[in-house]
Amino acid sequence: MARLAFSFAVMILIMFHFSSISFASSYGSFQLGDQCSSDVECGVGLGCFKCGIDVARCVRSNITDQYSVVNNSMPFNKYAFLTTHNSYAIEGLPLHVSTQEDSIVQQLNSGVRALMLDTYDYEGDVWLCHSLDEKCFDFTKFNRAIDTFKEIFAFLTANPLEIVTLFLEDYVTSPNGLTKVFNDSGLKKFWFPVQNMPKGGQDWPLVKDMVANNHRLIVFTSAKSKQETEGIAYQWNYVLENQYGDNGVEPNECSNREESVLLTDKTKALVLVNHFSTVPVKVLSCKENSKHLIDTIQTCYLAAGNRWANFIAVNFYKRSDGGGTFQAVDKLNGELLCGRDDVHAC
Ligand SMILES: *[C@@H]1O[C@H](CO)[C@@H](O)[C@H](O)[C@H]1NC(C)=O
Ligand SMILES: *[C@@H]1O[C@H](CO)[C@@H](O)[C@H](O)[C@H]1NC(C)=O
Ligand SMILES: *[C@@H]1O[C@H](CO)[C@@H](O)[C@H](O)[C@H]1NC(C)=O
Repeated sequence: MARLAFSFAVMILIMFHFSSISFASSYGSFQLGDQCSSDVECGVGLGCFKCGIDVARCVRSNITDQYSVVNNSMPFNKYAFLTTHNSYAIEGLPLHVSTQEDSIVQQLNSGVRALMLDTYDYEGDVWLCHSLDEKCFDFTKFNRAIDTFKEIFAFLTANPLEIVTLFLEDYVTSPNGLTKVFNDSGLKKFWFPVQNMPKGGQDWPLVKDMVANNHRLIVFTSAKSKQETEGIAYQWNYVLENQYGDNGVEPNECSNREESVLLTDKTKALVLVNHFSTVPVKVLSCKENSKHLIDTIQTCYLAAGNRWANFIAVNFYKRSDGGGTFQAVDKLNGELLCGRDDVHAC
């Protein structure tokens, strides 16, 4: 009996111990801009990052939910979405060039709502690859597309008000290769049909209607023929985009990338601003994702004939010296939804 009581006491102690640990590890009390040594010290929605040679500080690491701060009654093209460039190229594989450090699941949970994925045929399957010559190799492959698609499926299932957009740089040539992966992953359930996409720059459907119809996955491919053959929207029919790479991060430059119509063209309802340099360097991304990004958004607004971006595509999306990409999305949502420079002011 005494032994039993003792074990019971130990059990209670262990439970207390663990519950206090898990409480402490959820978030700390440090504020935006405070010096820190790890994420757990920073308050909710903040993470601890270094910017260049500066000391590490608590910076924003989570999105504002624009649908709850404002509403979801507006057309899809009246909202802005954080987009990760080469979302699948995640650190950890030797010799691979990486553009992100969070898993796809972490990205989605922190508010990333558009993913740029490069799809290739490889070993009888579709792989996400950061490659060259339109071929995937062992040293350039990251993940099977099906595994990432299943993660997106799980996210959309668990978050019934959210919409995810995929931009595929698509090198898959096997017939119905992508369709099969969309089928097998379950993602077809959330498919936004290409025939419902607005032509000629008209507004998209209302977000609340997209939610009600469960049309919560928008997929664009760079392969023109697939709009006909597989019903996957050809990106350049619906989106315009500025040039990425080293010119793309010049705060006073914004011109269309080759595949896109001119930025002043009003026949596409969605605007995507790329903002990342050609060679992804984590310590440099911090500066790119800070004031530079806000400046580029402003430059692109003017270059696009007074149109604010719906998507901003970045590397290492949590790296910044303060509000970073999250603040940039707040600004865009504010401008798009109510003409203010922060969605919290709507
Ligand atoms: C980010 O904020 C949302 C609420 O806006 C919350 O549901 C989500 O859990 C947060 N994510 C992380 C990783 O803290
Ligand atoms: C995908 O699913 C649809 C509907 O279930 C089916 O008609 C089609 O043959 C499937 N395509 C592939 C390539 O798996
Ligand atoms: C949703 O928010 C927008 C922007 O503030 C506003 O114009 C619109 O009237 C709101 N719609 C509803 C149904 O509340």
